[in-house]
Amino acid sequence: MSKLNIKDNADIFKCPVCSGNMDVVDLRSLICFNGHNFDISRSGYVNFLTKPVKTEYDKALFHSRSLISRHGFFGPLIEAIVELIAGKEPADAGTHRRMVLDAGCGEGSHLDQIIGELDARARHEYVGVGMDISKEGIQIASRQYPNRIWCVGDLTHIPFNDGSFDVILNILSPSNYKEFSRLLAVTGILIKVIPGRDYLKEIREAFFDKTEKQTYSNERVYSHFCKNFELIGSRDVRYTTMLDEEMLRHLIKMTPLSWTATDLETEHAIASLKGGITADFTVLYGGKGN
Ligand SMILES: C[S@@+](CC[C@H](N)C(=O)[O-])C[C@H]1O[C@@H](n2cnc3c(N)ncnc32)[C@H](O)[C@@H]1O
Ligand SMILES: [Zn+2]
Repeated sequence: MSKLNIKDNADIFKCPVCSGNMDVVDLRSLICFNGHNFDISRSGYVNFLTKPVKTEYDKALFHSRSLISRHGFFGPLIEAIVELIAGKEPADAGTHRRMVLDAGCGEGSHLDQIIGELDARARHEYVGVGMDISKEGIQIASRQYPNRIWCVGDLTHIPFNDGSFDVILNILSPSNYKEFSRLLAVTGILIKVIPGRDYLKEIREAFFDKTEKQTYSNERVYSHFCKNFELIGSRDVRYTTMLDEEMLRHLIKMTPLSWTATDLETEHAIASLKGGITADFTVLYGGKGN
């Protein structure tokens, strides 16, 4: 299905080497008019990196993140994003498919859930495209969610044509505002999710016990967004979720906060985490301005 999705939407791709337009050949590769060739994998993703990149996110981390996400931990955040996108739809039903890029999509569960919800309730047809620099993340995404388009790529050279997207999502991931601005359609919106002050505060308390690592400020990220995009609005999404021990272990594994902890410290932390876990996000959304 994803290979067909790629063929149906071949016009959005741009060669990351020479910026040329690309065509799908035999559902096996994307080739630009200068002959730069990128294979479509068996599970249907395209790897646009010209050399492999090693990231700190491994397969086990993305697996844990995927389980936590499918358990519903991010549910209210996903709901807020869906409401925002549906609320900004053009009034007329139109024939235009709305293109959504998740830049830094990780293992892809957020994009899949968001497009699934939009398809169920919105007026327009939505196409979801996920990109991440981690091949491990994109491999999980393409196997689990074949109805979306997935590619391995870098935020510094996003392999899509100018103005290809109506919505860009950037969830808990680094940004490249110059590229986001290039890729967005004139009336498109950028939705950026940043962690709020209390995000996973119980985990931070359990691991850092009142040291300076415990506090987090998102002011710098907020002002960087406002410098580069015209802020339309922002929304705080905050809730508490109860997780059983198995899910707590996955939550701990998926968060960088605990990467430096010993096994003993992790066991102590789990024993101390009796109550709920706080999710706290700020959702910023804006347009390109003039
Ligand atoms: C904290 S994870 C968030 C992943 C996903 N959005 C989520 O919320 O589960 C940050 C992601 O940004 C990706 N990333 C970091 N630098 C990147 C780059 N230069 N280009 C593309 N993705 C990048 C990482 O590989 C990782 O998947
Ligand atoms: Zn090329």
